[in-house]
Amino acid sequence: MIILGIETSCDETSVAVLENEKVLSNIVFSQITIHKKFGGVVPEVAARHHLLNLPIIYEKALEEAGISGKQINAIAVTYGPGLIGALLVGLSFAKGLALRYGIPLIGVNHIIGHVYANYIAYPDLKPPFIVLMVSGGHTEILKVEENKIEVLGKTVDDAAGEAFDKVARILGLGYPGGPEIEKISKVGDPNKFNFPRPMLNSKDYNFSFSGLKTSVLYTAQELKNNIPIADIAASFQEAVIDVLLKKTFKAARNNGINKIVLAGGVVANSRLRQKAKSLGKKYNYEILIPPLEFCTDNAAMIAMAGYYKILNGEISSLELEAVPNLKINS
Ligand code: KG4
Ligand code: ZN
Repeated sequence: MIILGIETSCDETSVAVLENEKVLSNIVFSQITIHKKFGGVVPEVAARHHLLNLPIIYEKALEEAGISGKQINAIAVTYGPGLIGALLVGLSFAKGLALRYGIPLIGVNHIIGHVYANYIAYPDLKPPFIVLMVSGGHTEILKVEENKIEVLGKTVDDAAGEAFDKVARILGLGYPGGPEIEKISKVGDPNKFNFPRPMLNSKDYNFSFSGLKTSVLYTAQELKNNIPIADIAASFQEAVIDVLLKKTFKAARNNGINKIVLAGGVVANSRLRQKAKSLGKKYNYEILIPPLEFCTDNAAMIAMAGYYKILNGEISSLELEAVPNLKINS
C-alpha cells in the first residue's frame, strides 16, 4: 500500500511517501530562516509559505519515491494540534488529492505522529514504552501500550522548547533559542546558578517552565550590564534537563516499563541525549532516540500513523476539520 503523508502544522512543510512501513521519500522544507527575523513563528506568514511550497514539495516527494499520483492508495494528513491557517493548507490539499484520486483520507493527530516516528526508526519496537515528547509546542510524557496511548503528564504552561526560545531572547541570543543555548552552554558552568526545578518533586508527571524562565529574567535584570550569558544558559539548560529526565524516569519506574523513547525538536540537545543515556545505563533502562530527521516535524511520521490507522479501519470523512487544540484521546 502506498501512503502519502502531509504535515503543515507549524513551520515545516513536509510530504512523505511510504510503501507500507518503508519510507520511500520524506521531504521537509523548514521555514526557520523566514521566521528568524521576527524572533518566532508568525502564523499568517507560515500559512502563506505552506501554500506556496506544498505543491512543489508534493511533486518532489513523488519524484524521489519514483511514483506517480495515481499510485497513491491513501492520504494521511495532520489535522491538529497546530496553527489553524497552517493546518488548513495541508488539510485542504489532502482533501483535494483524496477527491481527485478517489482514495481514503486519514486525519492524524500531530502528537500521535511523533510517537509513530519511533516505528520508522525502530521497526522492531514493541509497546509498552514511555515517550518524552519535547518540542517548541509540546512537552508531554506518554505511556504507549498496544492500541492505547495515555498522557501521563504535560506542561501546565510553556513547552520546554518554548522556554529555550524565550530564555535565548532574554539573553540576547538568536532564534530558535535551543541550539543557541546549547552552543553557548558548552563554555558555561551548569552549577553557577541554582535555578528552580519547578514541580520536580510533585506527585504527578506534569511540568512547568514559566517560573524558571522568570527566574532567569530576574537574574539577568539584577546583573544588568555584566551578564555571564554562558553560565546562565548552562544553568538554565541543566535545570530543564533535570526536570524532564527525573519525571520521565519516575513515570517509567512507577509504570514498570523499562523502555524510554525521546522525541521532538528539543531532543537535538546533546546534553539531554547524553544525560538520558547515562541515566539509562545507571538505572537499567533502554533509551531510544530516533534520528533527528524523525524527531523534528516531518510527514513520514504522519504517514506511518496513518498506515496503522488504516490497518485498523479508521478512515476520516472529507468533512474533517482542522482542530488547533486537538487533544490526544479525542
Ligand atoms: O519539534 P520541533 O522541531 O518543532 C515543534 O515545535 O513542533 O521543535 C522545535 C523546538 C524549538 O523550541 C527549539 O528551540 C528546540 O526545539 N530545539 C532545541 C534544540 N534544537 C531545537 N532545544 C534545545 N536544544 C537544542 N539543541
Ligand atoms: Zn511537532
